Amino acid sequence: KTPVWEARADLVVVGSGVAGLTAALRAQSLGLHVLVVTKAAIEDGNTRWAQGGVAVVLADQHDLDDSVAKHAEDTFAAGAGLVDEVAARSILDGGPAAVARLRAGGAQFDTSGNGLLARAREGGHSAFRVIHAGGDATGAEVERALVAQAGQARVPVLEHHVAVDALRTPGGRVAGVTVLDRNGVPGLVRAPAVLLASGGLGQLYQVTSNPEMATGDGLALALRAGAAVADIEFVQFHPTVLYTPGARGRCPLVTEAVRGEGATLVDGAGVPVMAGVHPLGDLAPRDVVSAAITRRLASAPGGIDDHVFLDATSIAGFARRFPTVSAACRALGLDPASDPIPVAPAAHFSCGGVVTTVDGRASVPGLYAAGEVARTGLHGANRLASNSLLEGLVVGQRVAEAVAADLAAGLLADPARGRLPSWTTARAAERDALQRVMSRYAAIGRDADGLAAAGSVLDLSVQDSPLWTQTAVEDAALTVVAQALLAAAVRRTESRGCHVRTDFPAPDEGWRRSQLIRLSPSGQP
Ligand code: SIN
Repeated sequence: KTPVWEARADLVVVGSGVAGLTAALRAQSLGLHVLVVTKAAIEDGNTRWAQGGVAVVLADQHDLDDSVAKHAEDTFAAGAGLVDEVAARSILDGGPAAVARLRAGGAQFDTSGNGLLARAREGGHSAFRVIHAGGDATGAEVERALVAQAGQARVPVLEHHVAVDALRTPGGRVAGVTVLDRNGVPGLVRAPAVLLASGGLGQLYQVTSNPEMATGDGLALALRAGAAVADIEFVQFHPTVLYTPGARGRCPLVTEAVRGEGATLVDGAGVPVMAGVHPLGDLAPRDVVSAAITRRLASAPGGIDDHVFLDATSIAGFARRFPTVSAACRALGLDPASDPIPVAPAAHFSCGGVVTTVDGRASVPGLYAAGEVARTGLHGANRLASNSLLEGLVVGQRVAEAVAADLAAGLLADPARGRLPSWTTARAAERDALQRVMSRYAAIGRDADGLAAAGSVLDLSVQDSPLWTQTAVEDAALTVVAQALLAAAVRRTESRGCHVRTDFPAPDEGWRRSQLIRLSPSGQP
């Protein structure tokens, strides 16, 4: 389809979560002409579902025995040997200023009796350093504050538009994006800088904490634009998503902060799941807890069980401290004050993504990425809890400054020279079949045979599909991202972080490195 309208901007931001809105606000304050393109309503992304909080050490709010250096050590340990330590230190160092800006912009965090910010602990953290809002509704408050600021600053936002592909110049620089509205009407935004802030890929799996728009679109766009991605085999499964029999799609999270307040995981027979598994017990890093639950379920008497329980009955004032979790439990007729909460792991976060610098520059000039879609090196093989909102805030700010600097230095393309992408169709698998095979063969516990089977099922079910509707764009994105993930997972013949290979159960020092993935000219990862 030929675009029926054309717009111009200095920077087009794809996505309106924490990273995208932070970047758009900063870019506009630097005098850039910004346009935000977002698939649903402005506030509808994944950010608003984040519960636990923002992991950050604030000098004026924290005990003297915590420090950014300790936060960094916890991040390295959780990341299982693959964290880029220089990048991680840089991002974590930027945390306090980023949170101060957010608060100055109107975000309200919970305080404790002494007037200081209340702090929670989550898996993998050696200290209470996770600040939160509305008890367990931190993402909702972060998003509310940023949307309000964007409204006040009159940041232009194109809602219900999906970005399809990048325009590129003959020299390979990115020069804008094609978009489709919800009726499939195509348009074109010419811009010398495109920021992907489009979130993650939880919809690769049947059960996820992510909303339905988390379909890996930004990752697919980046791959098709020739950018490198890395670490995408490391899909983090959150250990405790509220379990309901046969549930599919987004399921409510039960924040790790519940375990931070003393709740414990027990199996159907009441036996603790985490005893003897890790020195931090129930507060072990997330990959360790999810893998332990998966092993326990697989060894249940009589075959495979499908959930364990989170016993939070010892937490006084549960409903006040965790109103979001409480409401989700009540909807199932459960009262966490007296009933153990049924939980199971579910796809939650992509630790890898578009390879970028700590200020969001991707490997193709003119392309930038921030937030979950990006791989800065902060997360390695397993993200530390509540580091993601922080990363979005820090890199979102920096990437706007990077774009302004690159524009001023004349490094970016003349958008008039951008050519429409040559991809008018893409291979797309049927979504249910894709989610089924990914859940069966590429979740926690993978092996060579299963990964090969998943690849074959995908290869057999893909069809060339014109990129004419939002659903077609999403299906094509899920397909290429699944293929890239499977390729990376097959090659990584070890277990590390979120990537658990039952046929290679131990880490291998030779694999203490990231894999770069690009698409071949025929579109294969
Ligand atoms: C949680 O609250 O457990 C999720 C927070 C996160 O994913 O970092």
